[in-house]
Amino acid sequence: MIPDLTERANLVEAMDDLTSYGEYRRCMLDLDSVSRVVLAHRPTLRFLDRIAEKNPGKTLRILDVACGDGTMLRRIAGWAAKRGREVELTGLDLNPMAIEVGCEFRPSKPRIRYVTGDVFAYTPEAPLDVILSAHFTHHLGDGELVRFLRWMESTARLGWFVNDLHRHRNPYRMFRVLAAVAPWHPVVVSDALISIRRAFTTEDWARITAEAGLLGVEIAEEFPARVTVARLV
Ligand SMILES: C[S@@+](CC[C@H](N)C(=O)[O-])C[C@H]1O[C@@H](n2cnc3c(N)ncnc32)[C@H](O)[C@@H]1O
Repeated sequence: MIPDLTERANLVEAMDDLTSYGEYRRCMLDLDSVSRVVLAHRPTLRFLDRIAEKNPGKTLRILDVACGDGTMLRRIAGWAAKRGREVELTGLDLNPMAIEVGCEFRPSKPRIRYVTGDVFAYTPEAPLDVILSAHFTHHLGDGELVRFLRWMESTARLGWFVNDLHRHRNPYRMFRVLAAVAPWHPVVVSDALISIRRAFTTEDWARITAEAGLLGVEIAEEFPARVTVARLV
């Protein structure tokens, strides 16, 4: 049965409470596999295409908030190499184990810098062009979300992008089918379903961005499982 998805569920995900590095690392790598299967990186890379087109030749200084093990940053590194774009990539995450896994898989070029810390206490060392996040905002309450959006709006010089799940029965149903055949860790499967229940609809984002006083944001459903919020300055 599909649970009631009309309101955001107040459920806790288990992965952040794992204490064994081996198990956490396996979960992170399984999460990367989930992201590949559900095409999670695609909307963020498309957003970067737009930023790159608007700002030809410029070195892009990019921050990925709540970067986990840096899966998105590695995709961005590949994106930049393919296009011959100069990028400076930073990943920020609260969990030191996430950063440890990220460092293990860091490409030699372009360099990815990792910082362990809380985004709400973070001051960038140098001005940022683009701020990104993936699968992070559903961890926040409405008040924190408004604060996060305003921080991105005042900090990112060229734009920011939120990539998160869609609270909808189709992604929920699709993921349950996938999880029945994929060899993913049970914590990853259970957290993914909880994440969908904690995530947003386009109507939620319209309300929250209005509350943050933001104009000119683009809210979109992205097949198969997500809603994105884009801001190009
Ligand atoms: C579901 S994971 C997403 C990881 C990665 N972005 C991805 O798409 O695979 C959520 C991440 O948010 C991080 N996180 C939660 N609260 C945070 C905060 N206040 N500041 C920085 N990172 C935070 C957690 O440590 C966790 O790694």
